Amino acid sequence: MLVTGGAGYIGSHAAKALSRAGYEVVVFDNLVAGHREAVRYGELVEGDITDVAAVRDALRRREIFAVMHFAAFLDVGESVREPARYYRNNLVGALSVLEAMVAEGVRLFVLSSTCATYGEPIETPIPETHPQRPINSYGETKLAVERALPHFERAHGLHSVALRYFNAAGADPDGEIGEDHSPEIHLIPRTIAAATGGPGLQVFGDDYPTPDGTCLRDYVHVADLADAHVRALERLVRTGASGAYNLGTGHPYSVRDVIETVERVTARTVPWTLAPRRPGDPAALYAAAGKAKAELGWEPRFPDLESIVRTAWGWHQTHPNGYGGA
Ligand SMILES: NC(=O)c1ccc[n+]([C@@H]2O[C@H](COP(=O)([O-])OP(=O)(O)OC[C@H]3O[C@@H](n4cnc5c(N)ncnc54)[C@H](O)[C@@H]3O)[C@@H](O)[C@H]2O)c1
Repeated sequence: MLVTGGAGYIGSHAAKALSRAGYEVVVFDNLVAGHREAVRYGELVEGDITDVAAVRDALRRREIFAVMHFAAFLDVGESVREPARYYRNNLVGALSVLEAMVAEGVRLFVLSSTCATYGEPIETPIPETHPQRPINSYGETKLAVERALPHFERAHGLHSVALRYFNAAGADPDGEIGEDHSPEIHLIPRTIAAATGGPGLQVFGDDYPTPDGTCLRDYVHVADLADAHVRALERLVRTGASGAYNLGTGHPYSVRDVIETVERVTARTVPWTLAPRRPGDPAALYAAAGKAKAELGWEPRFPDLESIVRTAWGWHQTHPNGYGGA
């Protein structure tokens, strides 16, 4: 298995799950946002996904049979400011990987996609059939890759699954690997940082049409995402049927729920201030999660916010500076 972006947060957890399931993993990553220390399951090949020759070389030398593609940039705000960087890395990068696969005869592909491809929801929970109308260039780049996939299937017999994650969260329950983005853009690690002396948290708007006025999101445990990848791959091997699946629990939690849960789990206070709404933040984003359950047999092991926060807190306690040292 080639795991692009396997030195990153979700890719490193997928590499572990794949290795546990008996696959030999090769990580392909340029470490632009990943960590050498996160590569514990399989060899690290350092390279850039936009370099077709380098990807071809990795595929050929290691006799790769399938690719899981995590490598991408994922900061929505940055994607709005710097669309060229996002199109180059996320779209050109993915096309380079697909081109290399075709050239080397590798025909199975699992894509990290995102609920950001849906844009402003017209119904919640969001089913896979919801219109895909992204409102930022990050979502556009991921959707463009999704849209390319049927063409690669028709032209080259390349079968694929797009997994549309909601909010990835938590850390490896064994405490080996965890979340270390720089800057950290995700709510749970930012809330934990605020509780432990880091910058105070900003809550962007408390007048949304939600029960407590703050935004509702669907937090899905990173180990559950990793498990879903193994299941998606196995279905692809078994049936060759391409498709797209939401990966979320279907149970939304508010920003206030996150603050309260972090306070309970850490037994500390989270300092926070109210800030204006951010443009483009929908009030509620959560998945209709039935398709992955029905077709992949996927059932999250950490469906509740408390167990997600507990694993994130466990990782933070042993790695307060992430991979940068204890
Ligand atoms: N974290 C989330 O909540 C979330 C939600 C939806 C979708 N996703 C998608 O999941 C994937 C992984 O996200 P993550 O949170 O693990 O991010 P991450 O930044 O931790 O990992 C991405 C990895 O890709 C590598 N990478 C980036 N550009 C590369 C390039 N040109 N060549 C080689 N390697 C490169 C980085 O070094 C990093 O190790 C992304 O595709 C992202 O769009 C993430």
